Amino acid sequence: MKRILVTGASGQVGSELVPALRERYGSDAVLATDIREPEGALAEGGPFRRVDCTDRQALEHAVRDFRADTIYHLAAILSAAGERDPDQAYRVNLGGLKNALEVARDQGCAIFIPSSIAAFGPSTPPDPTPQDTIQRPTTMYGVTKVAGELLADYYHLRFGVDARGVRYPGLISYVTPPGGGTTDYAVEIFYAAVQQGRYTCFLRPDTQLDMMYMPDAIRASIEVMEADPRRLKHRNAFNVTAMQLTPATLAEAIREHLPHFVIEYQVDPLRQSIADSWPRRLDDSAAREEWGWAPRYDLRAMVADMLENLRKKPGL
Ligand code: NAD
Ligand code: SER
Repeated sequence: MKRILVTGASGQVGSELVPALRERYGSDAVLATDIREPEGALAEGGPFRRVDCTDRQALEHAVRDFRADTIYHLAAILSAAGERDPDQAYRVNLGGLKNALEVARDQGCAIFIPSSIAAFGPSTPPDPTPQDTIQRPTTMYGVTKVAGELLADYYHLRFGVDARGVRYPGLISYVTPPGGGTTDYAVEIFYAAVQQGRYTCFLRPDTQLDMMYMPDAIRASIEVMEADPRRLKHRNAFNVTAMQLTPATLAEAIREHLPHFVIEYQVDPLRQSIADSWPRRLDDSAAREEWGWAPRYDLRAMVADMLENLRKKPGL
């Protein structure tokens, strides 16, 4: 039976991944860990332990005490927050990952490591971005993501650690707000549309980025870990994608439900320059061929589901 420890579990991804893992493997089989207290379904659904992933011993004790055989290592500092404090991004994203890989090696755990569209940079072919291509990112977050992809491959080749992962695009969700990234506008816009009927976007209207609805991202994270290893030519950093959005096309799709919704633009130069350095569309054919990846939500289905769920959210 699987026993799973999740780091960074209180964040945008973890708050939905942990309940999905508990549903699949049992509530007591999944230990959520983070430096911030969990809320909602995450807090009520099973065990939680405070663990700072930069503290190798604390992580090791948690994995050993729980007898975990799998680690989902989600703890990270995202792109815009990482540019505000590059040193912290380096310590958490690389130091924390190195600790998680070492603990996985010592304790014989499989490990899931998420990378990102941020692992690419301005010299990468942007549309479509191949699975294997130039990776020269210009943010600290991106630098740590490329290094993380390489470290994950290294621990597999050198020590036989079953390290796997995907490159998430920008993730759209309604449970937990995003934690300081460049794609956050695609979540903020929904809250603003429902609450105020208008939104001031920090990216230009024509900025195209790859995006995915959270249920697809959760499924990808579980499916890649359950994939038959004999079929995997890559193990880490699979490109996955579901839709390509600009602020203007997203606003248009929201207006189909809320006709009076207004979007305005006040460009933030930092986040605009980050977005301009990222792919416009990932080629996810390797994930499709090697473990049968296919998204279920397109733009219309995602917008309808987001609005329906946000309208039900207490306090909105
Ligand atoms: P998030 O910022 O919402 O959550 C990250 C969590 O990590 C937070 O709860 C935070 O408290 C925790 N954390 C920070 N420092 C820590 C430390 N030292 N020890 C333990 N926990 C710590 O991020 P997320 O969106 O949930 O991202 C999860 C993973 O997915 C990250 O690796 C991120 O790079 C990747 N990713 C996310 C997106 C996205 O759009 N959300 C896109 C691409 C990749
Ligand atoms: N959503 C993330 C960010 O904007 C991409 O990894 O930082």
